[in-house]
Amino acid sequence: MQTTTDTGQRAPLRLGQQLKRQKSISSMAREAEDNGGNGKMRRSLGLMQLTMISVGATMGTGILVVLGATVPVAGPAIWISFVLAGVTALFSAFSYAEMAGMVPVSGSSYSYTYATMGEGIAWVCGWCLVLEYAVSVAAVAVGAGEYVNEALHTLGLEIPTALAGGPSEGGVVNLPALIVVLLATLLLARGAKESAIVNTTVVIIKTCILVFFSIVAFTAFDAGNFEPLLPMGAAGVTGAASIVFFSYIGFDAASTAGEEAINPKRDLPKAILLSMIIVTVAYVLVAVSAIGARDWTWFEGTEAALVQIIGELTGQSWIVLLFAIAAVLAIASVVLTVLYGQTRILLTMSRDGLVPAIFSRVSRRTGTPVAGTFITGGIVAITAGFIPLGALAEATSIGTLFAFALVGVSVIYLRRKQPHAPRTYKAPLYPLTPILGIGACLFLMANLSWHTWLVFGIWMMVGVGLYLGYGRSRSRLGALSKAQYIESHTGDS
Ligand code: ALA
Repeated sequence: MQTTTDTGQRAPLRLGQQLKRQKSISSMAREAEDNGGNGKMRRSLGLMQLTMISVGATMGTGILVVLGATVPVAGPAIWISFVLAGVTALFSAFSYAEMAGMVPVSGSSYSYTYATMGEGIAWVCGWCLVLEYAVSVAAVAVGAGEYVNEALHTLGLEIPTALAGGPSEGGVVNLPALIVVLLATLLLARGAKESAIVNTTVVIIKTCILVFFSIVAFTAFDAGNFEPLLPMGAAGVTGAASIVFFSYIGFDAASTAGEEAINPKRDLPKAILLSMIIVTVAYVLVAVSAIGARDWTWFEGTEAALVQIIGELTGQSWIVLLFAIAAVLAIASVVLTVLYGQTRILLTMSRDGLVPAIFSRVSRRTGTPVAGTFITGGIVAITAGFIPLGALAEATSIGTLFAFALVGVSVIYLRRKQPHAPRTYKAPLYPLTPILGIGACLFLMANLSWHTWLVFGIWMMVGVGLYLGYGRSRSRLGALSKAQYIESHTGDS
């Protein structure tokens, strides 16, 4: 590939230079301001909506089903696993909050790494975010079918098997998953504000349902259920924390709303941290009350522990129905917010030339990337409806953890390179928190199975191939002159 030098000649950039070319924070801020010249996104999201985007993307299927898999691993100390996973996520949340206040664009960790470690790592990070967002949302949507079936079952209705699950589940198409994704896509295409209103309503409902569960479970509280606290030892608690971590994925979603936030520098850090506090408190409350209500050995093999406990304690089928509906809503709001995040990350990558330009075309009528939303939503809907995701879905945690670790590295990099750059929020106890965040992510990654690593490795190889075959030669930074390249390479420092 070639660039124009400051003497007017065409000079090739070596691959190493291409991978290292950086965007400066100030140029990102300018681009975000004029939305890359492709029509304006509307700044309509305040602190409340931003917080709800993160809570919406985080509080989902995990908490509704995770106890059955994790209580047998940790014993009554499962609530400590939730605290541990929450603290791990919080270390990364501190780093996200600092970066989101400094680089308030829509690309989340992709943009943070572009401003620090350069285009190559930024692409790798963006490709990991496709795992965290698009792949995981397809997998989460697949679960919608089970809960829709459960809700209908309570009403004496059934979906035909052929339409209740995709080929991997013995059917033809997972129609509920397909419909949930398509509805979310239509809503997102209408506007960020409209989507945020629906999301805020759903998040309030799902939070109320969890609080309701805790209140009912506390009526049957037996302190004796907490003894012995560690029947599976400390290793059980940390092992369960690795699984429980899935329930915290999504807190970073607000960082994809930088260009639609009314006051991003002030509100993004607050939204990320507030959402972490809300989610952690809710999860620990649910875990403590559930163990208080049932002996830890009871959880072995339960699929929807919360629904069963509440059904047994109240004896009311309408409450079971309510829970099934809440589960569908919980999934729907994860789908909505995570899909939102994916479209904004792709928009940013497209503006940089690394993915096709259609993803950054913003409709003047709605102020949203309509075409990109329909393409992304369409692919996710087809994937959720027909394609068995299997091992790829398992690789979402590893991709997410990798992206989180890169954000910690970005914080350290910028603190060293640009110590005096304005920061609306600073990660506390620096450098301890980003280092602990990176360490915790690497530790959880190391705990994942070798086949998850293998799938992740294949995913990354596909990503590298795409960059070499497409993004490398189309990168907008690649179109800069050599002099501009050198300036951009040195960032704002
Ligand atoms: N944290 C999200 C959930 O639990 C992925 O569904």
